Amino acid sequence: MATSREVARRARELRELIENHNYRYYVLDDPTIADAQFDALMRELQQLESMHPELADADSPTQRVGGQAAREFREVVHAVPMLSLDNAFSEQDIVDFDRRARERLDVERVAYSAEPKIDGLAITLRYERGRLVQAATRGDGSRGEDVTVNVRAIRSVPLQLRGGKPPVLEARGEVFMTRNSFEALNLRQAGRGDKTFANPRNAAAGSLRQLDPAITAERSLDLFVYGVGAIEGWAAPQRHSEILAALRQLGLRTCPEIAVVDGVDGCLEYYDRIGKRRDALAYDIDGVVYKVDRLDWQRDLGFVARAPRWAVAHKFPAQEATTVVNEVQFYVGRTGALTPVAHVAPVFVGGVTVSNITLHNMDEVARKDVHIGDSVIVRRAGDVIPEIVRVIPAQRPANARVVRLPARCPVCSSHVDRTAGEAVARCSGGLVCAAQRLGAIRHFASRRAMDVDGLGERVVEQLIESGRVTTPADLYTLTVTEVAELDRMGPKSAANLVAALEHSKQTTLPRFLYALGIRDVGESTALALAGHFGDLDPLQAATREEIQQVRDVGPVVAAHVREFFDEERNRRVIENLRAAGVGWPVIERATVASAGPLTGQVVVISGTLAKMSREEARAAARAAGATVTDSVSKKTTLLVVGAEAGSKLRKAQDLGIRIADEDEFLRLLAGKGPA
Ligand code: IVH
Repeated sequence: MATSREVARRARELRELIENHNYRYYVLDDPTIADAQFDALMRELQQLESMHPELADADSPTQRVGGQAAREFREVVHAVPMLSLDNAFSEQDIVDFDRRARERLDVERVAYSAEPKIDGLAITLRYERGRLVQAATRGDGSRGEDVTVNVRAIRSVPLQLRGGKPPVLEARGEVFMTRNSFEALNLRQAGRGDKTFANPRNAAAGSLRQLDPAITAERSLDLFVYGVGAIEGWAAPQRHSEILAALRQLGLRTCPEIAVVDGVDGCLEYYDRIGKRRDALAYDIDGVVYKVDRLDWQRDLGFVARAPRWAVAHKFPAQEATTVVNEVQFYVGRTGALTPVAHVAPVFVGGVTVSNITLHNMDEVARKDVHIGDSVIVRRAGDVIPEIVRVIPAQRPANARVVRLPARCPVCSSHVDRTAGEAVARCSGGLVCAAQRLGAIRHFASRRAMDVDGLGERVVEQLIESGRVTTPADLYTLTVTEVAELDRMGPKSAANLVAALEHSKQTTLPRFLYALGIRDVGESTALALAGHFGDLDPLQAATREEIQQVRDVGPVVAAHVREFFDEERNRRVIENLRAAGVGWPVIERATVASAGPLTGQVVVISGTLAKMSREEARAAARAAGATVTDSVSKKTTLLVVGAEAGSKLRKAQDLGIRIADEDEFLRLLAGKGPA
């Protein structure tokens, strides 16, 4: 057993080590040990103290969370009143502030301490001979509440100052909660069914004003100091910036963003710089504060009412505001998604006037329980799009209306399709809806769909804008003369485009199905549908259950396919396409693959095919009963070659294997044999 002298020394040593690491961690932001090592030191100290009760010390780092839950907070009269700041909202306000200060001081230029205005709660910490004896809220400025037991639970608040021990030193600052801690707290609260907080400031206030300090302790509050109150026996420096440096020396934490700036230009430049970083900071700020740096000048300037003449708060535009939802309308995007948008009474928030706010989808409307007529809290942070944070239920008028998804597309009147389990509702008029036109036509013509060369976005845009093209079928009625009249289109490229359109008419069923842009029907689903039904008519006639029989097609995709063909406008476009000459070889139905047209064949596909991807070709061959392999061998019975087939072609020629080009392959797939 160690002698009590040694134990006492070790306890002292541990306390010092722990405080030192706390200081490095919180104030210098430069920890030198891992959290686990820190915890080990704490455990050792706790053990020593419990085995040796005579070592008890209220200021030991183990005693941060002590004391009983109180029934109320005691009142504290502030030795030096806690003032507030005048607010400024414009550059002009700051120019005027600086001019007034210079005129009163009769000086040319003033240096300012520029500081973020932390959005938390003002606090004063009273240290007597280096010991934290009292912490109090601002209250009305003259009297606050004693929150000492709770403030002791904040790890960045030293219980003892480092170095000098002035008889009295009141440090003043802001208690706040980081956004991360705030989110974690709200998650915990929601998980337990407890009330959540609207923002970090409210969470910090609620946590500090807890009668049970154990609750404060688990809510990770933080503190930055930004000035001093009463001081006795402390040789205060000459400048505010030096006071902050001295407070840091004493182990108190200051905001690392604080800087000394020169004159009004320096202030405004700082405002812009911090404004840009606002959302990147770990904590909320609602502006910046400029303080005349020289303390003798601060004294000369003095106070008006309850605010100093030597400081001003330059506020950022508020990020939250309250307004009313006048209407909710649905907008149709390029993919046919219907987005509910709230039209609100115009409100100035985050520096702009907001009148339209997206609600994203019907799930979001339900989750936020937004009704037409509701009062809502709107938020716009930085460049982020504005959002409705929540409704204010108490202010819901009796005539508030529920937001309903329309049954028909507001743009083209096709019916709206909302698959169970999906958040997004969509217009089913993929081929006819003006909102989807550009996307639908671009997709239709894309390389892996109908593969129309030369139909770029600008061309499609012009064709749509002029009203010449409203559905993909209209593409096939374009003449060279018409196309040549478009911007940046010479006669040669016009002729090429019309030729490319003509060429694209000869396609395959999988490509055609893919080109239609049916929701969730990608290339492989198109291929499976084509292989199963062989032609378009049986697919169009199939019930949802029958469509679901297709390999890899589940109920959702089957529903989308059915919805698409159920929309009469889509069927009309398909008829027009076929009438224009769009066609494909019929595929032998692959439902009984064992008896397909390529049964028994061992097929290799090589080079680039024009009408289908290599993957499509492989799948089509498989669907027709073939075995598909990657390399040519003696077992290979058929090599399908596209452009640049390379070494496989030579090897197949050497081995005397049958070689088919793409057209022949398509004929084989259709069970027609070589022409
Ligand atoms: S100085 C006499 N500096 O803003 C000057 N205040 O409206 C007293 N605040 O109650 C305050 N960050 O809660 C000062 N860097 C900062 C601040 C700051 C936030 C708060 C504080 C004060 C209020 C003034």
